[in-house]
Amino acid sequence: MKSKILPLQLQDLQYRVGDLDLLGPINLTLEAKSKTLVIGPNGAGKSLMLKLCHGLLKPTSGRISWMGGDSLAADRHQSFVFQHPIMLRRTALENVAYPLKIRGLPSDERKARAIEVLELTGIAHLADRPALKLSGGEKQKLSLARSWVTRPEVLFLDEPTANLDPRSTYDMEKLIDQIHQTGTKIIMTTHDMAQVRRIADELCFIHQGKLIEHGPVETVLEMPKNPMTAAFVKGELLI
Ligand SMILES: Nc1ncnc2c1ncn2[C@@H]1O[C@H](COP(=O)(O)OP(=O)(O)OP(=O)(O)O)[C@@H](O)[C@H]1O
Ligand SMILES: [Mg+2]
Repeated sequence: MKSKILPLQLQDLQYRVGDLDLLGPINLTLEAKSKTLVIGPNGAGKSLMLKLCHGLLKPTSGRISWMGGDSLAADRHQSFVFQHPIMLRRTALENVAYPLKIRGLPSDERKARAIEVLELTGIAHLADRPALKLSGGEKQKLSLARSWVTRPEVLFLDEPTANLDPRSTYDMEKLIDQIHQTGTKIIMTTHDMAQVRRIADELCFIHQGKLIEHGPVETVLEMPKNPMTAAFVKGELLI
């Protein structure tokens, strides 16, 4: 896949609410291809960082740039999977076809692509069920399918397996890998260090709103520069 929006650059990115400094300043460049995992304790700022990158939140100062330009042109090439997926009050198939409707695709094509992605995701048998009635694991797969159908260049996933059992976690990880193999850049948060070892190419470690470390997964895990990173990856509590 030829890059349309990457690299993604965070330049002095800061997010404040009132007098609370919640995130930043962060300077970071994320390139195409690799799977980037964002790790850090609860409340570190992982979700905020992803939401700022995706344009769901506006930075207080600094900027997000895609291929050196602003975010508007990048909107249609990126997608976001939330920890708690929000489903439309429609069938699973209609949920997956919906983003294509917004993009103005004709109805036949919407349906064909939605069916294809439901099959790839292993949930074609759920196509006609009301999305709101699906189980947590099924909803999470549906949410992934709804992102995949848009063939995004960048897929953000915010703790996509946090509430899933080992089997569903395995399925989700395989699907994320399949999506990555089609050329999609993965930017994902997790708490699960075993998952980091299974999935990550590069790691960002965030603590108290600061980017403490960024680098290839082997380097961050085996030779962390910062003692806080070393403690976190060893599973010690950061107080
Ligand atoms: N609008 C807001 N007003 C005040 N505080 C906020 C706001 N949004 C986020 N925060 C705070 O910012 C911090 C970072 O939140 P964030 O959701 O990014 O954490 P996280 O690293 O994703 O944590 P978790 O692992 O629990 O998901 C938290 O302390 C949170 O309470
Ligand atoms: Mg979070």
